[in-house]
Amino acid sequence: MANTRPVFIDPARDADYKRGIFNAIIAPRPIGWISTVDGAGQANLAPFSYFNIVSNLPPILMFSCNTPEDRQAKDTLANVRLSGEFVFNLVGADQVAAMNDTSTPVPYEVDEFEYCGIEKAPCRFVTPPRVAASPCSLECKVLETIAFGGGDLGPQTHVTFGQVVGMHIAPGFLHEDGHFDTLAARPVSRLGGAEYSVTEDSFVLTRKFTRANEATY
Ligand SMILES: Cc1cc2nc3c(=O)[nH]c(=O)nc-3n(C[C@H](O)[C@H](O)[C@H](O)COP(=O)(O)O)c2cc1C
Repeated sequence: MANTRPVFIDPARDADYKRGIFNAIIAPRPIGWISTVDGAGQANLAPFSYFNIVSNLPPILMFSCNTPEDRQAKDTLANVRLSGEFVFNLVGADQVAAMNDTSTPVPYEVDEFEYCGIEKAPCRFVTPPRVAASPCSLECKVLETIAFGGGDLGPQTHVTFGQVVGMHIAPGFLHEDGHFDTLAARPVSRLGGAEYSVTEDSFVLTRKFTRANEATY
């Protein structure tokens, strides 16, 4: 049953603070389904919902890797440090089961594309493969990886920023007037815990006041 009084939580001190509360509040979160390669060119694929756009000009994305308990870094982070490249793959409603499968912790040498039966397609400017069935994949070059946390602040997390250097859009999603059809892609996003949502409707709200030549945010 929902609490009938307002609640204030100090996340550093209150036992009431559960990490899942934060996830459920900052929702829906788009999912970055990130493909990378290791030093030998072996592919890796994993979902990250601590993911978002940072800027559209230049186009920059970010995703964040928690520190796992069984190794120094998640395979995705190890690979972006090695190669300086990653690919964002959009998770449409048709890819949701495959996306979930790729979150399975498998040994570093295992290629999740092969392990989960996901078809690869080649990229143009970066080495990692992309997800062939994804409505859109964005080739990225790493700009910087920044560490947060550690010590009293708890486990470290690493945020990787990447600049988009190539965009693959599947047939039918980019209209002739230049707009990407988000609703047709049916993007999946994460809420709290194991809850997800699919974006299936939208409304249009135009800004009343904008400066001439202002960028569209
Ligand atoms: C929808 C979804 C979102 C996730 N988001 C994150 C995230 O933002 N950060 C993170 O460290 N792990 C996240 N995970 C867990 C990773 O996907 C999981 O640890 C994965 O095994 C990492 O793979 P890797 O070691 O091949 O990089 C998420 C899992 C799912 C299913």
